[in-house]
Amino acid sequence: MYIPRLVLGSILYFFPHVVAERQAKQRPNIILIVADDLGWNDVSFHGSQQIPTPNIDRLARQGIILNNYYVTPICTPSRSSLLTGKYPIHLGTQHNVLNGVEPWGLGLEEITLPQYLKKGGYVNHIVGKWHLGFFSENYLPTNRGFDSHFGYWLGHSDYFDHSGQEWGDWGLDLRNNLDVVRNLTGRYATDLFTKRAERIIHTHNTSTPLFLYLAHLAVHSANEYDPLQTTKRYYDRFPHIKHEGRRLFAGMVAGLDESVGRVYRSLKDRGMDKNSVIVFTTDNGGPAASFDYNYANNWPLRGVKDTLWEGGVRGSAFIWSPLLKNTGRVSTQLMHISDWLPTILSAAELNDVITRADINNPIDGIDQWSALSENTPSARTEVLLNIDHDRNVYALRVKNYKIILGTTYNGDWDNWYPPEGTNITYASMKQAPAAVKCAPPLNPGTPQSCMPLKGPCLFDLANDPCEYHNLADQQPEVLQRMLDRLTIYNTTVVPPRNQPPDPAGKPERHGYVWAPWK
Ligand SMILES: *[C@@H]1O[C@H](CO)[C@@H](O)[C@H](O)[C@H]1NC(C)=O
Ligand SMILES: *[C@@H]1O[C@H](CO)[C@@H](O)[C@H](O)[C@H]1NC(C)=O
Ligand SMILES: *[C@@H]1O[C@H](CO)[C@@H](O)[C@H](O)[C@H]1NC(C)=O
Ligand SMILES: *[C@@H]1O[C@H](CO)[C@@H](O)[C@H](O)[C@H]1NC(C)=O
Repeated sequence: MYIPRLVLGSILYFFPHVVAERQAKQRPNIILIVADDLGWNDVSFHGSQQIPTPNIDRLARQGIILNNYYVTPICTPSRSSLLTGKYPIHLGTQHNVLNGVEPWGLGLEEITLPQYLKKGGYVNHIVGKWHLGFFSENYLPTNRGFDSHFGYWLGHSDYFDHSGQEWGDWGLDLRNNLDVVRNLTGRYATDLFTKRAERIIHTHNTSTPLFLYLAHLAVHSANEYDPLQTTKRYYDRFPHIKHEGRRLFAGMVAGLDESVGRVYRSLKDRGMDKNSVIVFTTDNGGPAASFDYNYANNWPLRGVKDTLWEGGVRGSAFIWSPLLKNTGRVSTQLMHISDWLPTILSAAELNDVITRADINNPIDGIDQWSALSENTPSARTEVLLNIDHDRNVYALRVKNYKIILGTTYNGDWDNWYPPEGTNITYASMKQAPAAVKCAPPLNPGTPQSCMPLKGPCLFDLANDPCEYHNLADQQPEVLQRMLDRLTIYNTTVVPPRNQPPDPAGKPERHGYVWAPWK
């Protein structure tokens, strides 16, 4: 709705208390914790009995567990969507992650969440992973709305020496703003980032609202020559896990869980918890069964990270805040990672800054704040899970239905992967507060199994969240409606921003440090 300036002026003239109240009320602190590569079945609120996550679970159970919540299948697209409120297909980030020597990043014309929050007087800090471009300083977080950054720029890192290896390139990747940090070798990344987050909270001037984006390295694999890294203290907690990779992974999760508890306690110490919103989300589904050298788990969901099956895109997440009314529940309200931007701005009473700022370049995210708080139906009925022309994969969810066209890795990662080192049963999973309930599996090769390289597959996720029963032949009208919707999204895809590698970006040319080169 367009309100002429004059009319707006007189509204404020006659109702000055509206403005006064708003100024008197402090905007909430926003604590956005992003786990990297955490799978559906890697938190105990979803049923993982292998890896207890007591700190995560406590906040999740007191808050709202988001059980119908989607992310994108990999890092760069998810983080770009999170910070702009847009689908990757509208940002050019839909095709693959950013590799260190590629000269591209999140488009400079995009407005980020911290830039919007600045309009409400927020102080913005990022701790941990960026992964949205660094080839030129303009792309760095401190030039995209953040007041400080302690962390790394690549997609992954060594947890102890803080180096990043990609293909043949290797270099140090730890920064305090723009300064290279060389004296923290040997310090475990999860603890380092947690300490930094604690310090930010403890020294924060509470007369201004805080936005803390804590983007953990955990539980991503480190460099491929030593991918699974935890400390002895965490490792020793999991003697019952008989698979070495899964046990090391469990140690990485334990560090993450402890971090969430410590951040919460810091907020409490300062009395900031009473006016805070804590969002916890993974960036994508888990790399299971040695995908990316890792042992995350999405069972009983299908697929892994970088696939459009539920295991790749249905995210582990919760929201916690005393400002929410209807808490202590498992939500089935449909949500997408792009919704956080308008939802957080709504919690901060800053929704209007989006429309004012970006009228010709609308966001895709939907404000879920009141739906979550009041437990009313989500305004979202569709989630575009991704379109990537270069890999010929498409997936879209509309209400209960999901359509998939094509598959990544020629179908090599299309299966169901139970967690290693345990005997898990459906019965044990169902006891968890937020477990998904699956229909019985089909034998492969039966007429209803999905063969995504041969033709589109259709699933009814309300009855079949595990994607066993392809309904494409049985429900041709639904299939056609879904294809029509997909075609509409398909016409809005912008070209991917990906660039070929540029040798000038090699760290060996910058003293074995990953550094901007343009
Ligand atoms: C690392 O170096 C920075 C900058 O010189 C300094 O502020 C910090 O205290 C040092 N940290 C450690 C653990 O030595
Ligand atoms: C906190 O910020 C307020 C407003 O800018 C300022 O007046 C106050 O002195 C600051 N407090 C501290 C301890 O720096
Ligand atoms: C799983 O069950 C099998 C067969 O009952 C048993 O041999 C194996 O030790 C069990 N594994 C674990 C980790 O409990
Ligand atoms: C989507 O658009 C691309 C490029 O315009 C086209 O090649 C492709 O066939 C379309 N796919 C679908 C499913 O509409």
